[in-house]
Amino acid sequence: MEISDGSVRILAALLEARTGQQLAHGRRWRIEAALHPLMGELQAASMDALVSRIVSGEDPRLSDRAIDALLNHETFFFRDIASFRLLDEQGLERIRAARAATRRLRIWSAGCSTGQEVYTIAMLIADQPERWQGWSIDIVGTDLSAKAIARARQGRYSQFEIQRGLPVVQMLRRFDQIEREWQVSDALRGMVCFRNHNLLAPPPPGLFDVVLCRNVLLYFSSDVRGLVFGRIASAMPEDGVLMLGAGETVMGHTDHFVSDYECRGLYRKRIHAPSRTSMECAAR
Ligand SMILES: C[S@@+](CC[C@H](N)C(=O)[O-])C[C@H]1O[C@@H](n2cnc3c(N)ncnc32)[C@H](O)[C@@H]1O
Repeated sequence: MEISDGSVRILAALLEARTGQQLAHGRRWRIEAALHPLMGELQAASMDALVSRIVSGEDPRLSDRAIDALLNHETFFFRDIASFRLLDEQGLERIRAARAATRRLRIWSAGCSTGQEVYTIAMLIADQPERWQGWSIDIVGTDLSAKAIARARQGRYSQFEIQRGLPVVQMLRRFDQIEREWQVSDALRGMVCFRNHNLLAPPPPGLFDVVLCRNVLLYFSSDVRGLVFGRIASAMPEDGVLMLGAGETVMGHTDHFVSDYECRGLYRKRIHAPSRTSMECAAR
């Protein structure tokens, strides 16, 4: 069912205003595919009729559902495994040395989709009990999509999802099979928490030693990307570690971070980039 240029423009504007995501050119087929189930459920006569109902305000939840359908939630366990190795062996190790006195570690996965990234970090830590013994560790996953966060909290994955990236040994150690699905263990679930959060809003409270923001900012305009990098920097201490997706970089998008040459693929704050506490002091 074809969608008109006008409706594409309306949806693109709605999506960008609410999420920062720009609709990539030439992806019209994706809009139609994404909204097709909603169109069927509402028995809308056409894509354009569906878009009219979405923007009419007759049911405010319709626009949330349309946006959720248009977002790309693609994720899998241990995505870019080499980057996770680097994070574990170098990024986390550096923070571990720096926090030896307090033994406190806070990790934020921003744009965590259905939770695989968050459980991946939890597995990295749970696999090394001696290294992290006596540590107080918060692992917080956030996403704009309430549906994705509900699934992340539930921690139940299909056979297809569980097979993507997760080594068999981890699957057997950390998940229980329930009929045709796989449920993450209570122990792993107890290590993490999930919240709804829009990256266009101020960051969650407190400072995070490690922030993962992977495959989220790709479709943000340069200005919005810069704003979000600034907000993430404000939620990190001076020596915090930022991890982006394998094909992403901060270069050309922000002055708040620089590439960490000792840990390629990870980023650290540029000296003097403000963190929340110094920003709050300045605001007083
Ligand atoms: C492609 S997934 C990436 C998931 C995971 N980080 C990974 O790399 O495997 C992108 C996620 O970012 C979320 N997202 C998009 N815009 C967002 C925003 N403004 N605030 C928070 N999350 C957002 C989407 O809902 C989606 O779940």
